[in-house]
Amino acid sequence: MSRPKILSTRELFPAARDILDKHFEVDYGKPGQQISRSELLKRVADKEGLVCLLTEKVDEELLDAAPKLRIAATVSVGFDHIDVAACTKHKVIATNTPGVLDDTTADFAWTLLMAIARRLLEGDEKMRSGNWPGWDFDQLLGGDVWGKTLGIIGFGRIGRGVARRAQGFQMRVLYSDAVRAPADVEKELHAEFVDRDRLFRESDFISLHVPLLPDTRHLISKENLDKMKPTAYLINTARGPVVDEAALADALERKKIAGAALDVFEAEPKANPALLGRKDVILTPHIASASVETRTKMAVMAANNLVACFESKRPPNALNADALGLK
Ligand code: GLV
Repeated sequence: MSRPKILSTRELFPAARDILDKHFEVDYGKPGQQISRSELLKRVADKEGLVCLLTEKVDEELLDAAPKLRIAATVSVGFDHIDVAACTKHKVIATNTPGVLDDTTADFAWTLLMAIARRLLEGDEKMRSGNWPGWDFDQLLGGDVWGKTLGIIGFGRIGRGVARRAQGFQMRVLYSDAVRAPADVEKELHAEFVDRDRLFRESDFISLHVPLLPDTRHLISKENLDKMKPTAYLINTARGPVVDEAALADALERKKIAGAALDVFEAEPKANPALLGRKDVILTPHIASASVETRTKMAVMAANNLVACFESKRPPNALNADALGLK
């Protein structure tokens, strides 16, 4: 019996390839190479399944180009690149990879937080360039982390992971979210539910953990940046467009805040040029979940979603299961 044909836009890892190769006839993208939009549309045309990444839009155009498609499985937790309603309309199951990257991403938010507060990259640059004149009393003074106030916007799994780590630093934790966390979670994490206005005004560090939604686009605006303390830092490991990068560069220039560390950008793969030359900014290329262990788990999860679909089971991470009436 012939196996269903699928497209996996990357080769992923052996653990995921083993699953895919066992069940499907797989057309793999080239290692380390982004697939162009035109090639994606061409190669998905005769496929029943798609394994894709967050750089690859699954929209009406793609769904029209792939009339046999039954599932689009993204190897990411964020799914703002997937038009889930359009998938439902085309009877295509959309899946993501929640849960497995929470701690790795929370670790990275903390990596950025510590690095920006203690001017890690500036120190590294001084050493590499041979420009360190030797120890001095007031060199590269940063801000303390321990004992400060951490404001977390978006208190889902990753935001809570960031709060959990803050306890080791004896921080006061404030959070805002559309929904208040259960009392036992607040108690365990010593986290206080506050409105955003208070969070902006009182936090020494603000870490973003909201999905990209119409409501969260440019949440970090001039108006909100102006509420922050001049000694505060902004950390973004969520989605780039949550921050208005031009407003951020302007706020830094006006010394409205002390610094920012960004892993995600409004128009990836580029960052706003006004940020590039600044020493009070750390920029990393969307790598918060990029550990071998986590990326392997994500790839395996996507592969298992595909297998479930073709075994006529409800894929564990289907985003539109209810809309499609999957049992
Ligand atoms: C990474 O940004 C993801 O959504 O998995």
